[in-house]
Amino acid sequence: MSEPLRILQVGAGGMGRAWLSTIAANPDAVLVGLVDLDLDVARAALAAAPGGLADGDVAVGTDLGEMLATTQASAVVDVAIPIAHHSITTAALFAGLDVLGEKPVTETVAEALSLVAATQVTGRRFVVSQSRRFNQQAFQLRAYSRALGSSGSLACEFFKAPHFGGFREEMPQPLLVDMAIHQFDLARFVLDADPVAVYAESFNPPWSWYAGDASAVATFEMSDGSRFSYTGCWCAPGLETSWNGSWRLSAEKGAATWDGDHAPSYDAGGDLAVPQEADPGRELAGSLAAFVAGIRERAPMMCEAADNVLSLAMVEAAVASAETGVRVSIDEVLERAHEVALASESRDDVRAALVGWPSVREGLALSTA
Ligand SMILES: NC(=O)c1ccc[n+]([C@@H]2O[C@H](COP(=O)([O-])OP(=O)(O)OC[C@H]3O[C@@H](n4cnc5c(N)ncnc54)[C@H](O)[C@@H]3O)[C@@H](O)[C@H]2O)c1
Repeated sequence: MSEPLRILQVGAGGMGRAWLSTIAANPDAVLVGLVDLDLDVARAALAAAPGGLADGDVAVGTDLGEMLATTQASAVVDVAIPIAHHSITTAALFAGLDVLGEKPVTETVAEALSLVAATQVTGRRFVVSQSRRFNQQAFQLRAYSRALGSSGSLACEFFKAPHFGGFREEMPQPLLVDMAIHQFDLARFVLDADPVAVYAESFNPPWSWYAGDASAVATFEMSDGSRFSYTGCWCAPGLETSWNGSWRLSAEKGAATWDGDHAPSYDAGGDLAVPQEADPGRELAGSLAAFVAGIRERAPMMCEAADNVLSLAMVEAAVASAETGVRVSIDEVLERAHEVALASESRDDVRAALVGWPSVREGLALSTA
């Protein structure tokens, strides 16, 4: 029987509270410390956690370096804001810890490449919690996709009308940057394919309550020759889709649909031999369970940074296409990000690893080999 994985959590905001509950519910993990820049936020989150924790039950602090050195944690769960993901993950990896980080992997593809190189230098694991993959229905849709033969088109419609207030209503690209990464990542998962290029447009309907573009359409060419088309709007009252979006796959032997909330279905003109997928655990719980198992068994995991960077590249490429009006290739985005990463890297060992990549795709493959 293995000891529970000792976890230091960083970030105690809205999502941080959900992670505290998730860690508390997993018998194979134990919280040993909580870091937040705001000590009162950290203490309030601990008090609200299941069972109610206080200083003394676990270490609480504002100084990540000190907490890494003193808590004897084996892994960091990073639930801080995206702009802090690069520095937190770098510090944790070089302190010898593995990291499970909230999406997005980082703010930019360039920062994400730096972190992939940091895993290669340290030999530690860095997995992104792309929580919407952890859904038995999504796994079933992928099983249908595999059984239906070659894919032609995968379409996702996302129409919601939330009034968040705050930063989302001020950002230039709220839908593409804050939300669409979930659907872009799910498309890679369902198709078992990676993005090649994208043409995208974004716009803001006249009635929108967002300052930036609340609507977008994007068409991705995928590595299996299929097309993934995304149409989304965040100021779309009436007949709203689920938060996962509404999906349709058209393939060689038939079609499959998923409303994002209920079991998917398929039509192949008869029965297909499709395995019933096991429940991977729902969202954060599934993501944490997979991380703990992958660390213990030293097994490959879904959403390791070297793989997940391609989901963030889809976002960056779609934004670039929407801003320039031209089709953008994913390789262009990756190679440009590599140049930025080399120019801005502050660690010599990480820069040396980045310099050694023959191309970005080959550099990423070094981590997944
Ligand atoms: N998977 C999902 O569906 C989902 C949903 C919401 C948010 N998220 C992600 O979760 C992360 C956190 O989002 P949130 O809504 O909880 O944000 P939040 O603003 O509510 O909380 C972030 C917390 O991090 C702390 N923090 C910021 N920088 C820090 C640093 N350098 N060191 C330590 N603490 C720091 C802040 O003080 C704050 O308490 C983001 O990456 C976000 O994209 C994911």
